[in-house]
Amino acid sequence: MDIQQILEDIQAEVRPLLDQGRVASYIPELAVVPGDKFGMVVRTVDGASYAVGDAGERFSIQSISKIFTLTMAMQLAGDDLWKRVGREPSGNPFNSLVQLEYENGKPRNPFINAGALVVTDVILGHLDNATETVRDIVRGLCDKDDIDFDLAVAGSEQATGHRNKAMAYFLKSFNNLDNQPERVLDAYFHHCSLAMTCLELCEAVLFLANNGVAPLSGDLVMTGNQVKYVNSLLLTCGTYDAVGDFAYRVGLPAKSGVGGGIVAIMPGQFSACVWSPGLDASGNSLAGSKALELFTTKTGVSVF
Ligand code: DON
Repeated sequence: MDIQQILEDIQAEVRPLLDQGRVASYIPELAVVPGDKFGMVVRTVDGASYAVGDAGERFSIQSISKIFTLTMAMQLAGDDLWKRVGREPSGNPFNSLVQLEYENGKPRNPFINAGALVVTDVILGHLDNATETVRDIVRGLCDKDDIDFDLAVAGSEQATGHRNKAMAYFLKSFNNLDNQPERVLDAYFHHCSLAMTCLELCEAVLFLANNGVAPLSGDLVMTGNQVKYVNSLLLTCGTYDAVGDFAYRVGLPAKSGVGGGIVAIMPGQFSACVWSPGLDASGNSLAGSKALELFTTKTGVSVF
């Protein structure tokens, strides 16, 4: 199979879609990114990588960071994590507040914002420098020492993230945050602001396709069973209230971010990352979702 040719065909096919999504503007600093960017990378567990378009340009990973914080919280807290956050799809927007009220402050899953705030609180409870530790783990996973927070993006969200602030205080009112809400929010905004390329993201999540082993370092990031847990959560919760449609079309565990990135995992074979800033109504990259759908359709490779 000529993967490079398939990626080039996909790039051409999704070009008309690039101006159909809407670049996120509720974090003002994200709105400055040109909507016509498109990059895609596939990185196999045996060391091959294929790239097209703006694959070497760093973008704001936003909610894709929730994979790394969840991975850490699972190591640090074990099964206790699940006393504070659920494992069901939310069926609601990623920043919804209403469900939290009905469900007494226990977020549905770790990939919606409320769940990630609890996950961040867990990490803060175990580590002195949790904000930097998450960045350093990501640096290690893709062997790139210059991966860093985009402080303009973090500051922009700090200044305008009133809904996340409401959510953190709401969680605190249910005693589901140990730390002060502002401390949790600061760490969370920093993690979301990490800037990475498609190739770097592929490297960083490849352990999820490789039975828990990071291929670059040979380090065991998590056990095979934990990989099963994370990939199952990605498949059922990683793309928010569009998760059923996304799973139907793409057929891979995946995580999106409002910076327009999506990472996807094919266990035993590869990780993929696509970046296109225009989003659909659920906050997932519009052209990016289509590109991944075309990839699994053209190759015939998906978890199903
Ligand atoms: O908390 C927020 O709203 C953003 N920092 C991240 C949201 C996000 O990426 C959801 N993704 N589709």
